[in-house]
Amino acid sequence: MTQHSNTGQGRLPVSSGAALLAVCGAASALLLVGGCSSTPDYPPNLSFPSRTDRLVLKVPEAPPPGPSLAGEIAKELAALDAAGGKTLDPTTIAPAGRTALDTTLRDLFGTPAAPHVKGDADTAAAADRLGLTADKLPEAGRLFRRHCLQCHNLTGDGQGTAANVVPPPRDMRRGAFKFTTTGGVKPRRGDLVRTLHDGLKGTAMPSFSLLPEAERDLLARFATYLAVRGQTEFETLAALGAGEVPDVPGFATGRAKAIVGEWEKAENAPPLPGVAPEPDDGDPESPTHAAAVRRGFVLFTAKADNACITCHGDFGRKPALRYDVWGTVARPADLTTPNVFKGGKNPADVFARVRGGIPAVGMPAHPELTDRQVWDLVRLVRSLPYPRELPPDVRAAVYPEQ
Ligand code: HEC
Ligand code: HEC
Repeated sequence: MTQHSNTGQGRLPVSSGAALLAVCGAASALLLVGGCSSTPDYPPNLSFPSRTDRLVLKVPEAPPPGPSLAGEIAKELAALDAAGGKTLDPTTIAPAGRTALDTTLRDLFGTPAAPHVKGDADTAAAADRLGLTADKLPEAGRLFRRHCLQCHNLTGDGQGTAANVVPPPRDMRRGAFKFTTTGGVKPRRGDLVRTLHDGLKGTAMPSFSLLPEAERDLLARFATYLAVRGQTEFETLAALGAGEVPDVPGFATGRAKAIVGEWEKAENAPPLPGVAPEPDDGDPESPTHAAAVRRGFVLFTAKADNACITCHGDFGRKPALRYDVWGTVARPADLTTPNVFKGGKNPADVFARVRGGIPAVGMPAHPELTDRQVWDLVRLVRSLPYPRELPPDVRAAVYPEQ
Protein backbone atom coordinates (compact mmCIF):
# COMPACT_ATOMS: atom_id res chain seq x y z
CA MET A 1 0.00 0.00 0.00
CA THR A 2 1.46 3.34 -0.97
CA GLN A 3 0.79 6.51 0.96
CA HIS A 4 -1.69 7.73 -1.61
CA SER A 5 -3.53 4.85 -3.18
CA ASN A 6 -5.12 7.23 -5.67
CA THR A 7 -1.92 8.90 -6.83
CA GLY A 8 -3.48 10.27 -10.00
CA GLN A 9 -5.66 12.57 -7.98
CA GLY A 10 -3.26 12.99 -5.08
CA ARG A 11 -6.02 12.14 -2.64
CA LEU A 12 -5.19 11.25 0.92
CA PRO A 13 -6.26 7.74 1.81
CA VAL A 14 -8.06 9.12 4.84
CA SER A 15 -9.63 12.48 4.13
CA SER A 16 -10.66 14.89 6.79
CA GLY A 17 -14.38 14.06 6.73
CA ALA A 18 -15.84 11.10 8.54
CA ALA A 19 -12.60 9.67 9.91
CA LEU A 20 -11.61 12.89 11.62
CA LEU A 21 -15.04 13.37 13.04
CA ALA A 22 -14.78 9.90 14.50
CA VAL A 23 -11.42 10.77 16.06
CA CYS A 24 -12.79 14.04 17.35
CA GLY A 25 -15.89 12.33 18.71
CA ALA A 26 -13.84 9.73 20.56
CA ALA A 27 -11.52 12.36 21.99
CA SER A 28 -14.42 14.50 23.21
CA ALA A 29 -16.14 11.53 24.78
CA LEU A 30 -12.98 10.47 26.55
CA LEU A 31 -12.14 13.90 27.83
CA LEU A 32 -15.77 14.79 28.49
CA VAL A 33 -15.35 18.10 26.75
CA GLY A 34 -17.83 19.74 24.43
CA GLY A 35 -15.69 20.39 21.37
CA CYS A 36 -12.82 18.95 19.45
CA SER A 37 -10.00 21.41 19.01
CA SER A 38 -7.13 19.13 18.09
CA THR A 39 -5.93 19.64 14.54
CA PRO A 40 -4.63 16.39 13.10
CA ASP A 41 -1.32 16.32 11.30
CA TYR A 42 -0.44 14.93 7.90
CA PRO A 43 1.46 11.64 7.92
CA PRO A 44 5.13 12.69 8.32
CA ASN A 45 6.33 10.58 5.38
CA LEU A 46 3.66 11.82 2.97
CA SER A 47 4.94 13.69 -0.11
CA PHE A 48 3.04 15.87 -2.51
CA PRO A 49 2.35 13.57 -5.50
CA SER A 50 3.69 14.44 -8.96
CA ARG A 51 1.13 16.15 -11.12
CA THR A 52 -0.56 13.79 -13.57
CA ASP A 53 -3.55 15.80 -14.78
CA ARG A 54 -3.55 17.88 -17.96
CA LEU A 55 -2.17 21.44 -18.00
CA VAL A 56 -4.22 24.01 -19.93
CA LEU A 57 -1.70 26.17 -21.79
CA LYS A 58 -4.18 27.99 -24.04
CA VAL A 59 -7.96 27.92 -24.23
CA PRO A 60 -9.80 27.83 -27.59
CA GLU A 61 -10.83 31.16 -29.15
CA ALA A 62 -14.29 29.83 -30.00
CA PRO A 63 -16.93 29.86 -27.27
CA PRO A 64 -17.40 26.60 -25.34
CA PRO A 65 -20.07 24.18 -26.57
CA GLY A 66 -21.94 24.37 -23.25
CA PRO A 67 -21.55 24.75 -19.50
CA SER A 68 -19.05 22.64 -17.53
CA LEU A 69 -20.59 19.53 -16.03
CA ALA A 70 -19.93 18.28 -12.52
CA GLY A 71 -17.14 15.73 -12.35
CA GLU A 72 -16.30 15.99 -16.08
CA ILE A 73 -13.25 18.24 -15.89
CA ALA A 74 -10.75 15.68 -17.19
CA LYS A 75 -12.94 14.94 -20.19
CA GLU A 76 -13.58 18.61 -20.92
CA LEU A 77 -9.90 19.51 -20.74
CA ALA A 78 -9.01 16.57 -22.99
CA ALA A 79 -11.36 18.02 -25.64
CA LEU A 80 -9.70 21.46 -25.69
CA ASP A 81 -6.94 20.63 -28.19
CA ALA A 82 -9.41 19.56 -30.86
CA ALA A 83 -11.31 22.83 -30.30
CA GLY A 84 -8.20 24.94 -30.97
CA GLY A 85 -6.73 25.15 -27.46
CA LYS A 86 -3.43 23.75 -26.23
CA THR A 87 -3.00 21.34 -23.34
CA LEU A 88 -0.15 19.23 -22.04
CA ASP A 89 -0.42 15.76 -20.57
CA PRO A 90 2.41 15.81 -18.02
CA THR A 91 2.70 12.01 -18.01
CA THR A 92 4.21 12.29 -21.52
CA ILE A 93 7.25 14.16 -20.16
CA ALA A 94 10.46 12.12 -19.87
CA PRO A 95 10.85 10.59 -16.37
CA ALA A 96 14.26 12.18 -15.77
CA GLY A 97 12.83 15.69 -16.00
CA ARG A 98 9.86 14.84 -13.79
CA THR A 99 12.04 13.23 -11.12
CA ALA A 100 14.36 16.24 -11.09
CA LEU A 101 11.31 18.50 -10.73
CA ASP A 102 9.85 16.46 -7.85
CA THR A 103 13.16 16.61 -5.97
CA THR A 104 13.44 20.36 -6.55
CA LEU A 105 9.84 20.98 -5.46
CA ARG A 106 10.52 19.05 -2.28
CA ASP A 107 13.64 21.11 -1.58
CA LEU A 108 11.82 24.37 -2.27
CA PHE A 109 8.48 23.64 -0.62
CA GLY A 110 8.90 20.70 1.77
CA THR A 111 6.09 18.21 2.41
CA PRO A 112 2.48 18.48 3.61
CA ALA A 113 3.57 17.91 7.23
CA ALA A 114 6.64 20.15 6.96
CA PRO A 115 5.85 22.90 4.45
CA HIS A 116 8.28 25.76 3.83
CA VAL A 117 9.28 28.16 1.06
CA LYS A 118 13.00 28.14 0.31
CA GLY A 119 15.17 29.32 -2.56
CA ASP A 120 17.80 32.01 -2.77
CA ALA A 121 18.07 34.73 -0.12
CA ASP A 122 15.69 37.05 -2.01
CA THR A 123 13.00 34.37 -2.31
CA ALA A 124 13.24 33.45 1.35
CA ALA A 125 13.06 37.11 2.40
CA ALA A 126 10.05 37.78 0.16
CA ALA A 127 8.31 34.63 1.45
CA ASP A 128 8.94 35.87 4.98
CA ARG A 129 7.39 39.22 4.19
CA LEU A 130 4.35 37.40 2.76
CA GLY A 131 4.01 35.47 6.00
CA LEU A 132 4.89 32.13 4.38
CA THR A 133 7.18 31.26 7.25
CA ALA A 134 8.18 27.83 8.53
CA ASP A 135 6.72 28.64 11.96
CA LYS A 136 3.24 29.36 10.51
CA LEU A 137 2.85 27.04 7.53
CA PRO A 138 2.62 23.68 9.36
CA GLU A 139 -0.30 24.87 11.51
CA ALA A 140 -1.85 26.53 8.44
CA GLY A 141 -1.58 23.21 6.62
CA ARG A 142 -3.28 21.32 9.44
CA LEU A 143 -6.18 23.77 9.33
CA PHE A 144 -6.33 23.35 5.56
CA ARG A 145 -6.45 19.60 5.95
CA ARG A 146 -9.33 19.90 8.34
CA HIS A 147 -11.47 22.48 6.54
CA CYS A 148 -10.54 22.52 2.87
CA LEU A 149 -9.01 19.23 1.79
CA GLN A 150 -12.25 17.53 0.79
CA CYS A 151 -12.70 20.09 -1.97
CA HIS A 152 -9.33 21.68 -2.73
CA ASN A 153 -7.28 18.50 -2.17
CA LEU A 154 -3.73 17.92 -1.01
CA THR A 155 -1.93 19.90 -3.74
CA GLY A 156 -4.72 22.47 -4.13
CA ASP A 157 -5.72 20.94 -7.47
CA GLY A 158 -9.41 21.27 -6.61
CA GLN A 159 -10.04 17.56 -7.11
CA GLY A 160 -10.88 16.43 -3.59
CA THR A 161 -13.49 13.85 -2.73
CA ALA A 162 -16.29 16.46 -2.56
CA ALA A 163 -15.24 18.28 -5.71
CA ASN A 164 -17.93 17.15 -8.15
CA VAL A 165 -19.54 20.58 -8.28
CA VAL A 166 -19.88 23.41 -10.81
CA PRO A 167 -18.05 25.73 -10.64
CA PRO A 168 -15.31 23.37 -9.46
CA PRO A 169 -13.25 24.18 -6.36
CA ARG A 170 -10.40 26.52 -7.24
CA ASP A 171 -7.34 24.82 -8.69
CA MET A 172 -4.75 26.88 -6.83
CA ARG A 173 -1.90 25.49 -8.96
CA ARG A 174 -2.69 27.89 -11.79
CA GLY A 175 -1.79 30.78 -9.48
CA ALA A 176 -4.93 32.64 -10.55
CA PHE A 177 -7.86 33.84 -8.47
CA LYS A 178 -11.10 35.58 -9.35
CA PHE A 179 -11.87 38.01 -6.57
CA THR A 180 -8.96 40.37 -6.15
CA THR A 181 -8.57 44.08 -5.47
CA THR A 182 -5.14 44.21 -7.04
CA GLY A 183 -6.12 44.65 -10.68
CA GLY A 184 -4.66 41.23 -11.53
CA VAL A 185 -5.13 37.50 -10.92
CA LYS A 186 -3.06 37.49 -7.72
CA PRO A 187 -4.98 38.50 -4.61
CA ARG A 188 -3.62 40.21 -1.55
CA ARG A 189 -4.01 38.22 1.65
CA GLY A 190 -6.93 40.46 2.64
CA ASP A 191 -8.82 39.38 -0.52
CA LEU A 192 -8.41 35.70 0.39
CA VAL A 193 -9.43 36.37 3.99
CA ARG A 194 -12.58 38.12 2.74
CA THR A 195 -13.40 35.11 0.53
CA LEU A 196 -12.92 32.81 3.51
CA HIS A 197 -15.06 34.98 5.74
CA ASP A 198 -17.97 35.37 3.30
CA GLY A 199 -17.64 32.24 1.16
CA LEU A 200 -18.58 32.53 -2.53
CA LYS A 201 -22.33 32.99 -2.94
CA GLY A 202 -24.03 30.52 -5.23
CA THR A 203 -21.10 28.05 -5.21
CA ALA A 204 -19.99 25.18 -2.98
CA MET A 205 -17.35 27.41 -1.36
CA PRO A 206 -18.64 27.84 2.21
CA SER A 207 -18.25 30.75 4.59
CA PHE A 208 -15.70 30.24 7.37
CA SER A 209 -16.94 33.20 9.38
CA LEU A 210 -17.18 31.06 12.51
CA LEU A 211 -13.44 30.42 12.63
CA PRO A 212 -11.24 32.81 14.59
CA GLU A 213 -9.78 35.59 12.43
CA ALA A 214 -6.27 34.26 13.08
CA GLU A 215 -7.22 30.90 11.53
CA ARG A 216 -8.64 32.52 8.40
CA ASP A 217 -5.38 34.41 8.13
CA LEU A 218 -3.40 31.15 8.35
CA LEU A 219 -5.66 29.45 5.82
CA ALA A 220 -5.14 32.31 3.38
CA ARG A 221 -1.38 31.83 3.77
CA PHE A 222 -1.70 28.13 3.03
CA ALA A 223 -3.74 28.84 -0.11
CA THR A 224 -0.92 31.17 -1.18
CA TYR A 225 1.70 28.53 -0.39
CA LEU A 226 -0.11 25.90 -2.51
CA ALA A 227 -0.54 28.44 -5.30
CA VAL A 228 3.18 29.31 -5.33
CA ARG A 229 4.16 25.65 -5.25
CA GLY A 230 1.61 24.64 -7.87
CA GLN A 231 2.48 27.46 -10.26
CA THR A 232 6.18 26.63 -9.99
CA GLU A 233 5.33 23.05 -10.91
CA PHE A 234 2.98 24.20 -13.71
CA GLU A 235 5.50 26.50 -15.36
CA THR A 236 8.37 24.01 -15.11
CA LEU A 237 6.24 21.21 -16.57
CA ALA A 238 5.12 23.53 -19.37
CA ALA A 239 8.78 24.34 -20.16
CA LEU A 240 9.73 20.66 -20.01
CA GLY A 241 6.87 19.87 -22.37
CA ALA A 242 7.99 22.57 -24.78
CA GLY A 243 11.49 21.15 -25.18
CA GLU A 244 14.78 21.30 -23.38
CA VAL A 245 15.14 22.55 -19.84
CA PRO A 246 18.82 21.75 -19.31
CA ASP A 247 18.80 22.69 -15.63
CA VAL A 248 15.52 21.69 -14.01
CA PRO A 249 16.46 22.76 -10.44
CA GLY A 250 17.78 26.10 -11.70
CA PHE A 251 14.69 26.70 -13.82
CA ALA A 252 12.19 25.77 -11.09
CA THR A 253 14.06 27.80 -8.48
CA GLY A 254 14.00 30.81 -10.82
CA ARG A 255 10.27 30.41 -11.41
CA ALA A 256 9.59 30.13 -7.66
CA LYS A 257 11.47 33.37 -7.10
CA ALA A 258 9.51 35.18 -9.83
CA ILE A 259 6.17 33.84 -8.57
CA VAL A 260 6.84 34.83 -4.95
CA GLY A 261 7.72 38.24 -6.41
CA GLU A 262 4.33 38.42 -8.16
CA TRP A 263 2.58 37.68 -4.86
CA GLU A 264 4.55 40.36 -3.10
CA LYS A 265 3.67 42.84 -5.82
CA ALA A 266 -0.03 41.98 -5.39
CA GLU A 267 0.22 42.30 -1.61
CA ASN A 268 1.62 45.81 -2.04
CA ALA A 269 -0.57 46.86 -4.96
CA PRO A 270 -2.18 50.26 -4.38
CA PRO A 271 -5.92 50.11 -3.76
CA LEU A 272 -7.89 50.32 -7.02
CA PRO A 273 -8.17 54.00 -7.88
CA GLY A 274 -11.28 55.85 -6.91
CA VAL A 275 -12.78 53.44 -4.40
CA ALA A 276 -13.19 56.38 -2.02
CA PRO A 277 -14.85 58.72 -1.54
CA GLU A 278 -18.14 57.17 -2.51
CA PRO A 279 -20.68 59.59 -4.06
CA ASP A 280 -23.82 60.10 -1.96
CA ASP A 281 -26.30 58.62 -4.45
CA GLY A 282 -26.04 55.00 -3.27
CA ASP A 283 -29.36 55.02 -1.46
CA PRO A 284 -32.19 54.18 -3.91
CA GLU A 285 -34.27 56.81 -2.09
CA SER A 286 -31.76 59.54 -2.80
CA PRO A 287 -32.90 62.07 -5.44
CA THR A 288 -29.80 61.54 -7.60
CA HIS A 289 -29.92 57.69 -7.61
CA ALA A 290 -32.16 57.38 -10.68
CA ALA A 291 -29.87 59.54 -12.80
CA ALA A 292 -26.84 57.45 -11.77
CA VAL A 293 -28.69 54.22 -12.64
CA ARG A 294 -29.66 55.65 -16.05
CA ARG A 295 -26.08 56.60 -16.87
CA GLY A 296 -24.95 53.14 -15.74
CA PHE A 297 -27.58 51.56 -17.99
CA VAL A 298 -26.26 53.45 -21.03
CA LEU A 299 -22.71 52.27 -20.30
CA PHE A 300 -23.82 48.69 -19.62
CA THR A 301 -25.77 48.38 -22.87
CA ALA A 302 -23.40 50.42 -25.10
CA LYS A 303 -22.77 49.09 -28.62
CA ALA A 304 -19.11 48.33 -28.04
CA ASP A 305 -17.08 45.13 -28.26
CA ASN A 306 -16.42 44.99 -24.57
CA ALA A 307 -19.76 46.25 -23.29
CA CYS A 308 -21.12 44.46 -20.26
CA ILE A 309 -24.20 43.32 -22.18
CA THR A 310 -22.12 41.31 -24.71
CA CYS A 311 -21.29 38.81 -21.96
CA HIS A 312 -24.09 39.49 -19.49
CA GLY A 313 -26.65 39.02 -22.28
CA ASP A 314 -30.16 40.13 -21.29
CA PHE A 315 -28.52 41.40 -18.06
CA GLY A 316 -27.18 37.94 -17.36
CA ARG A 317 -30.30 35.91 -18.05
CA LYS A 318 -28.75 34.85 -21.37
CA PRO A 319 -25.04 34.72 -20.54
CA ALA A 320 -22.38 34.26 -23.22
CA LEU A 321 -20.39 31.34 -21.82
CA ARG A 322 -16.60 31.58 -22.09
CA TYR A 323 -13.50 29.62 -21.16
CA ASP A 324 -11.65 30.72 -18.03
CA VAL A 325 -7.88 30.31 -17.49
CA TRP A 326 -8.45 26.87 -16.00
CA GLY A 327 -10.06 25.65 -19.25
CA THR A 328 -13.43 25.22 -17.57
CA VAL A 329 -16.48 27.26 -18.54
CA ALA A 330 -17.31 30.55 -16.83
CA ARG A 331 -20.86 31.81 -16.81
CA PRO A 332 -21.29 35.60 -16.70
CA ALA A 333 -23.35 36.40 -13.61
CA ASP A 334 -27.12 36.80 -13.88
CA LEU A 335 -27.29 40.33 -12.53
CA THR A 336 -31.09 40.25 -12.24
CA THR A 337 -30.74 37.78 -9.35
CA PRO A 338 -30.22 39.04 -5.80
CA ASN A 339 -27.12 37.94 -3.86
CA VAL A 340 -25.14 37.28 -6.99
CA PHE A 341 -21.94 39.04 -5.92
CA LYS A 342 -19.42 36.35 -4.99
CA GLY A 343 -16.75 38.96 -4.49
CA GLY A 344 -18.82 40.92 -1.96
CA LYS A 345 -21.99 42.98 -2.29
CA ASN A 346 -20.79 46.21 -0.66
CA PRO A 347 -20.52 49.14 -3.07
CA ALA A 348 -16.72 49.17 -2.69
CA ASP A 349 -16.54 45.42 -3.53
CA VAL A 350 -18.64 45.86 -6.67
CA PHE A 351 -16.58 48.92 -7.57
CA ALA A 352 -13.43 46.77 -7.38
CA ARG A 353 -15.03 44.15 -9.64
CA VAL A 354 -16.06 46.66 -12.31
CA ARG A 355 -12.82 48.67 -12.17
CA GLY A 356 -10.47 45.67 -12.02
CA GLY A 357 -12.55 43.15 -13.96
CA ILE A 358 -12.17 39.43 -13.31
CA PRO A 359 -9.12 38.71 -15.47
CA ALA A 360 -9.16 34.96 -14.77
CA VAL A 361 -12.50 34.66 -16.61
CA GLY A 362 -11.79 37.36 -19.21
CA MET A 363 -14.10 40.01 -17.73
CA PRO A 364 -12.18 43.15 -18.71
CA ALA A 365 -10.82 45.81 -16.38
CA HIS A 366 -11.90 49.41 -16.96
CA PRO A 367 -9.00 51.72 -16.15
CA GLU A 368 -10.32 54.18 -18.76
CA LEU A 369 -13.65 54.88 -17.08
CA THR A 370 -13.91 57.83 -14.70
CA ASP A 371 -14.67 57.07 -11.07
CA ARG A 372 -18.11 58.56 -11.69
CA GLN A 373 -18.77 56.11 -14.54
CA VAL A 374 -17.70 53.12 -12.43
CA TRP A 375 -20.00 54.28 -9.63
CA ASP A 376 -22.84 54.62 -12.15
CA LEU A 377 -22.33 50.98 -13.15
CA VAL A 378 -22.21 49.99 -9.48
CA ARG A 379 -25.51 51.78 -8.86
CA LEU A 380 -27.07 50.01 -11.82
CA VAL A 381 -25.95 46.46 -11.03
CA ARG A 382 -26.77 46.72 -7.34
CA SER A 383 -30.32 47.79 -8.20
CA LEU A 384 -30.90 45.49 -11.19
CA PRO A 385 -32.57 42.66 -9.20
CA TYR A 386 -35.09 45.10 -7.67
CA PRO A 387 -37.47 46.60 -10.28
CA ARG A 388 -38.73 49.16 -7.76
CA GLU A 389 -35.23 50.62 -7.43
CA LEU A 390 -35.01 51.28 -11.19
CA PRO A 391 -36.31 54.42 -12.91
CA PRO A 392 -39.36 53.54 -15.08
CA ASP A 393 -37.55 53.68 -18.45
CA VAL A 394 -34.72 51.39 -17.22
CA ARG A 395 -37.24 49.10 -15.52
CA ALA A 396 -39.19 48.76 -18.78
CA ALA A 397 -36.01 47.81 -20.64
CA VAL A 398 -34.83 45.24 -18.07
CA TYR A 399 -38.25 43.81 -17.15
CA PRO A 400 -40.36 44.35 -20.31
CA GLU A 401 -43.02 41.91 -19.11
CA GLN A 402 -43.88 43.95 -15.99
C1 HEC B 1 -17.43 22.16 -0.25
C2 HEC B 1 -16.31 22.50 -1.08
C3 HEC B 1 -15.34 23.58 -0.63
C4 HEC B 1 -14.70 23.68 0.58
C5 HEC B 1 -14.86 22.82 1.82
C6 HEC B 1 -13.79 24.79 0.45
N1 HEC B 1 -13.90 25.34 -0.78
FE1 HEC B 1 -12.81 26.90 -1.49
N2 HEC B 1 -13.87 26.86 -3.22
C7 HEC B 1 -14.83 25.95 -3.54
C8 HEC B 1 -15.38 26.26 -4.83
C9 HEC B 1 -16.47 25.51 -5.54
C10 HEC B 1 -14.69 27.41 -5.30
C11 HEC B 1 -14.83 28.10 -6.65
C12 HEC B 1 -15.99 29.05 -6.78
C13 HEC B 1 -15.93 29.83 -8.06
O1 HEC B 1 -15.08 29.59 -8.91
O2 HEC B 1 -16.74 30.73 -8.20
C14 HEC B 1 -13.73 27.75 -4.26
C15 HEC B 1 -12.85 28.80 -4.36
C16 HEC B 1 -11.88 29.08 -3.42
C17 HEC B 1 -10.88 30.12 -3.55
C18 HEC B 1 -10.73 31.06 -4.73
C19 HEC B 1 -11.22 32.48 -4.53
C20 HEC B 1 -10.95 33.35 -5.73
O3 HEC B 1 -10.84 34.56 -5.56
O4 HEC B 1 -10.81 32.84 -6.85
C21 HEC B 1 -10.09 30.05 -2.45
C22 HEC B 1 -8.89 30.91 -2.14
C23 HEC B 1 -10.60 29.00 -1.60
N3 HEC B 1 -11.70 28.44 -2.22
C24 HEC B 1 -10.05 28.62 -0.41
C25 HEC B 1 -10.61 27.68 0.44
C26 HEC B 1 -10.08 27.36 1.74
C27 HEC B 1 -8.82 27.96 2.33
C28 HEC B 1 -10.92 26.44 2.27
C29 HEC B 1 -10.87 25.85 3.65
C30 HEC B 1 -10.88 26.81 4.75
C31 HEC B 1 -11.95 26.15 1.29
N4 HEC B 1 -11.72 26.93 0.19
C32 HEC B 1 -12.94 25.20 1.45
C33 HEC B 1 -15.25 24.90 -2.77
C34 HEC B 1 -14.84 24.64 -1.48
C1 HEC C 1 -15.94 39.18 -21.51
C2 HEC C 1 -17.13 38.86 -20.76
C3 HEC C 1 -17.57 39.85 -19.69
C4 HEC C 1 -17.76 41.21 -19.81
C5 HEC C 1 -17.54 42.09 -21.03
C6 HEC C 1 -18.24 41.66 -18.54
N1 HEC C 1 -18.35 40.60 -17.68
FE1 HEC C 1 -19.01 40.69 -15.78
N2 HEC C 1 -18.65 38.71 -15.56
C7 HEC C 1 -18.20 37.85 -16.53
C8 HEC C 1 -18.09 36.51 -16.02
C9 HEC C 1 -17.65 35.28 -16.78
C10 HEC C 1 -18.49 36.59 -14.67
C11 HEC C 1 -18.61 35.44 -13.68
C12 HEC C 1 -17.33 35.22 -12.91
C13 HEC C 1 -17.47 33.98 -12.04
O1 HEC C 1 -18.10 34.06 -10.99
O2 HEC C 1 -16.93 32.95 -12.42
C14 HEC C 1 -18.84 37.98 -14.42
C15 HEC C 1 -19.29 38.45 -13.19
C16 HEC C 1 -19.71 39.77 -12.97
C17 HEC C 1 -20.22 40.26 -11.73
C18 HEC C 1 -20.36 39.47 -10.44
C19 HEC C 1 -19.13 39.69 -9.59
C20 HEC C 1 -19.16 38.88 -8.32
O3 HEC C 1 -18.73 39.44 -7.28
O4 HEC C 1 -19.56 37.72 -8.34
C21 HEC C 1 -20.54 41.57 -11.91
C22 HEC C 1 -21.12 42.53 -10.88
C23 HEC C 1 -20.23 41.90 -13.27
N3 HEC C 1 -19.71 40.77 -13.89
C24 HEC C 1 -20.44 43.14 -13.82
C25 HEC C 1 -20.00 43.49 -15.08
C26 HEC C 1 -20.09 44.83 -15.61
C27 HEC C 1 -20.70 46.02 -14.88
C28 HEC C 1 -19.54 44.79 -16.84
C29 HEC C 1 -19.30 45.94 -17.80
C30 HEC C 1 -18.51 47.03 -17.27
C31 HEC C 1 -19.13 43.41 -17.08
N4 HEC C 1 -19.43 42.67 -16.01
C32 HEC C 1 -18.55 42.97 -18.26
C33 HEC C 1 -17.89 38.20 -17.83
C34 HEC C 1 -17.94 39.48 -18.34
